[in-house]
Amino acid sequence: MYDMYKERRLPPQITIVGVARREWSHDFFRQHLREGVEEYGSGLGSEDVWKQFAEGLFYCSGNIDSTESYQKLKAFLSELDGKRGTRGNRTFYLSVGPAFFGEATLQLGKAGMLADPNKTRLIIEKPFGKTLSSAQALNRTVRSACAEEQVYRIDHYLGKETVQNLLAFRFANAIFEPLWNRQFVDHVQITVAETVGLEGRAGYYETAGALRDMVQNHLMQLLALTAMEPPNSLDADAIRNEKVKVLQATRLAHLDDLSKCAVRGQYTAGWMNGKPVPGYRDEEGAKPNTTTPTYAALKLSIDNWRWQGVPFYLRTGKRMPKKVTEIAIQFKQVPFLMFEAAAKHAKPNILTLRIQPNEGISLRFDVKTPGSSNLRTRQVDMDFRYDAAFGATNQDAYSRLLVDGMLGDQSLFIRGDEVEASWRLLTPLLEVWDNATDADAVPMYAAGTWEPAEAEFLLNRDGRKWRRL
Ligand code: BG6
Repeated sequence: MYDMYKERRLPPQITIVGVARREWSHDFFRQHLREGVEEYGSGLGSEDVWKQFAEGLFYCSGNIDSTESYQKLKAFLSELDGKRGTRGNRTFYLSVGPAFFGEATLQLGKAGMLADPNKTRLIIEKPFGKTLSSAQALNRTVRSACAEEQVYRIDHYLGKETVQNLLAFRFANAIFEPLWNRQFVDHVQITVAETVGLEGRAGYYETAGALRDMVQNHLMQLLALTAMEPPNSLDADAIRNEKVKVLQATRLAHLDDLSKCAVRGQYTAGWMNGKPVPGYRDEEGAKPNTTTPTYAALKLSIDNWRWQGVPFYLRTGKRMPKKVTEIAIQFKQVPFLMFEAAAKHAKPNILTLRIQPNEGISLRFDVKTPGSSNLRTRQVDMDFRYDAAFGATNQDAYSRLLVDGMLGDQSLFIRGDEVEASWRLLTPLLEVWDNATDADAVPMYAAGTWEPAEAEFLLNRDGRKWRRL
């Protein structure tokens, strides 16, 4: 928020009120945030700018389940409206444990703080629910306190420039869309590989695992944006209608035998950047015989006219050798190759959308190797890099989303039916993996290596391979 304030992207009267249990003074809160900005932000910059910003920082202690606390907050916010000219325009950002999303929303509603749909908004963090039924229950609770138009469910992947660019790339260019279907695409691979381990979050992760932490939200959003039909406009609901439609058409590819379309994995001790790192079961907070997956690979089918028969392979894992998020569209082989030599070497075209790092897009195709007497080909890449074209962008995904939320633009937030569609499609698998007790049955991969062999097999069975990244 401060970075944005420095860039004058927030109005001068922006007012931030921290609410938590501890009894802090406004000044203590300001000092606390100042230290945070110095340590984690891009620095204070001018002392004067910080001073102005700090004048808009306040603290109001309260308990999440106490009705009086909300009355106190309400009175305090009205007082600030008078002092700061904020005119009742508020965004409530629930940066609380997921178990409290419902309670906090109900209490805000009961206190009348969400009554005006034009002036009040509610930002809710992930995970939104733990299963389909808990997500549905949370949706009901939230809707009993305010309208869907007031709800902003965050998925920070949607705040990433390269994710937003998926829409521009697909629908602002005439040449790709005609190829974007079952006639030309062989399959799609979506990879979100991370080098980090649990970063002290095993307590949370034990209740989540890779499916809830990454697949249900981030990977599903990448899939939806890749596979959706063109929306009629850039209006939030027009985009979200199309995303919901495609998620509703998506299913695990082999519902009769999930082992053919889903592989989990868990990292064991290994090496990262030349340093030894512990296995997942030895991370603080992880149960010794836990079956929680830190890796998941899925094969999904989309039952609609555009994608019938085109598998979407998704994978995500922690403690992989490289951090890389990408979407690779692999096209079909040419129907017939004239030359034997070419046939041996020709490979399919691949369009890769690099979400992070080295943000960009590349198209791989075959060219004739110069000088060879019999026609030989080699694959080359035509490459677009964001940094080369636009310089480094430093916009953080969260900044973008917070501003959009405050401005009332829901396009980059998840709608209630969307979150339910994505839980629904994963439910059969969650039920199996959540109830797994055999610790020895979980495929293992050493930290710092790619997927377990079982995940390789998921594609090999179809005569395909994961991309080596
Ligand atoms: C979060 C997950 O939502 O996304 C983390 O809870 C994960 O486990 C993170 O590390 C990845 O985000 P990014 O932006 O680094 O790809």
